[in-house]
Amino acid sequence: MARAIKDGLVTREELFIVSKLWNTFHDAERVEPIVKKQLADWGLEYFDLYLIHFPVALEWVDPAVRYPPGWHYEGDEIRPSKATIQETWGALEALVAAGLTKSIGISNFQGQLIYDLLRSAKIRPATLQIEHHPYLVQQELLNLAKHEGIAVTAYSSFGPASFKQFNMEHAAKLTPLIEDETIQKIAAKYNRDPSQVLLRWATQRGLAIIPKSTREPIMASNFASIDFDLSEEDIATISGFNRGIRFNQPSNVRSTIPFPSTTPIHLL
Ligand SMILES: NC(=O)c1ccc[n+]([C@@H]2O[C@H](COP(=O)([O-])OP(=O)(O)OC[C@H]3O[C@@H](n4cnc5c(N)ncnc54)[C@H](OP(=O)(O)O)[C@@H]3O)[C@@H](O)[C@H]2O)c1
Repeated sequence: MARAIKDGLVTREELFIVSKLWNTFHDAERVEPIVKKQLADWGLEYFDLYLIHFPVALEWVDPAVRYPPGWHYEGDEIRPSKATIQETWGALEALVAAGLTKSIGISNFQGQLIYDLLRSAKIRPATLQIEHHPYLVQQELLNLAKHEGIAVTAYSSFGPASFKQFNMEHAAKLTPLIEDETIQKIAAKYNRDPSQVLLRWATQRGLAIIPKSTREPIMASNFASIDFDLSEEDIATISGFNRGIRFNQPSNVRSTIPFPSTTPIHLL
């Protein structure tokens, strides 16, 4: 991207570049140094949007020792940090003041924590990035975000597809949404690909989408998902797939988490 800007293919202003703060950098004093490293790695001077990746604070890992640090401190051990969301958010607000990012937001937060954050935030989160697909519709969370003026971005718009690489049993057991008969029937009606129907369902629900692909024709197809409209009835049919299935959550890391509870944690 830095090369494209340097070669004049695009200007920096034409791009909207988003990055995220990983869990091991939640302690306030760790935030600015890691953002500066990320910017240096990208060859950029600022991000347009910078998000807290998960509302989970883990012990700092020196980037000189391991980068990216991942979930585990050593072996399968996960070490929490004491940083609160308020502390981390304050450090993100300082990034805006320092010109290192234009705006800040959150990811994988649920309602209660959003309300808690809003109580002390001087800058309100611009966006909330969440896992969102027909198996995880989250209407109440969308209502809350709308009411609070927080734009919502969907990731994993195709459901289980992006989690199969992690050998998740429940991802493998579910019908891939792109292959689902009902989604395929709706797609045929509009002369579109099932993937475009899934993306349009999300944008018609008011979300931004960020599908990724390494294949150019697929990128073009994903881009071309907003020039048709699904009927209200088809939107409702797709929303009816909801099973509250979330793939991306900390309890999936299956480790010995030293929180004061023996029950599985469902932080998200
Ligand atoms: N905030 C978070 O916690 C979080 C978590 C996960 C992802 N994200 C973000 O979300 C964005 C998307 O990532 P994702 O994991 O959700 O991936 P995704 O968009 O669900 O895509 C998953 C895979 O599906 C394939 N694909 C994409 N479009 C397709 C289409 N039209 N038809 C068939 N296959 C298609 C791609 O493979 P090919 O390359 O082979 O085409 C891609 O690797 C990324 O920017 C990522 O950073 C955020």
